[in-house]
Amino acid sequence: MLEQEAISEVRVSIADRVMTITLNRARKKNAVTDAMYSAIAASLRRAQEDPDVHVALLTADGADFCAGNDINVLMGVHDAREAPASNAEAFLTGLSTFPKPLIAAVQGMAIGIGATLLLHCDVVFAAPDTQLKMPFVDLGLVPEAGSARLLPAIIGHPKAFSIFAFGLPLSGAAAADLGLVSHLVPREQLQAAALEAAQALASKPPAALTATKALMRDQAAIRAALAADRAALLERLASPEAAAALARFMARKPSAAGP
Ligand code: COA
Repeated sequence: MLEQEAISEVRVSIADRVMTITLNRARKKNAVTDAMYSAIAASLRRAQEDPDVHVALLTADGADFCAGNDINVLMGVHDAREAPASNAEAFLTGLSTFPKPLIAAVQGMAIGIGATLLLHCDVVFAAPDTQLKMPFVDLGLVPEAGSARLLPAIIGHPKAFSIFAFGLPLSGAAAADLGLVSHLVPREQLQAAALEAAQALASKPPAALTATKALMRDQAAIRAALAADRAALLERLASPEAAAALARFMARKPSAAGP
């Protein structure tokens, strides 16, 4: 069965018990807007509830996976009590609690949420041209999506701190060495390899898969990590430091604070 629908700048299709969610805003490097967060969150909810969907696969059109939150949205936050984009929270909840296998296929730049969302995926395929970047400090921000806890849990504190604080990119190979990427595959095989893996998982006993995933994820710890960094992020977004750093990006001036 093939089912396809278009939701703004996110494309969703279901075939062979796999829901494929594709970021489709390549002209803006797939930077994520509030409408896109809403569409992805709705798709994940639907994938969770639909017994005919066993696996979700997250991919992106174009040369780059995702340049992170749309900075125009972040620049709109002037008060720490004001949520920058309410759908970002729905997205993070859907992503972090998704009970079925979640696979990502990543190429090119994967920045900010484009990198941190991978910490919530169960299998990560990446092309060698992948550059993971978490430049939160340079933007006057703090790590989001629970990454301040999840990243050091995988790679250790000193490496995680260096990635956050220096904001330097990690290549696909380096990310695979560190355990952030499970499969490094040539760019031209990326989509096919990820889809093949998704279909393989979709043919396995689904309840055993979800039970295995549930045993491997400490949901209480993840919930606490998400709540902690969200509060800190709202504080930071309302700061003059972040306002200046975000405005610098939009004005395309190099960050004075960069390494
Ligand atoms: N938010 C909003 N727009 C973004 C964006 C973001 N996060 N990332 C890229 N874009 C837009 C650019 O403004 C540009 O739009 P324009 O053509 O209307 O001017 C378009 O996408 C292409 O980006 P550009 O910077 O011209 O491409 P590049 O190849 O020179 O650089 C990146 C690509 C991804 C390295 C660079 O865009 C970048 O650093 N983006 C910001 C990433 C970031 O810090 N994200 C974290 C947010 S928490």
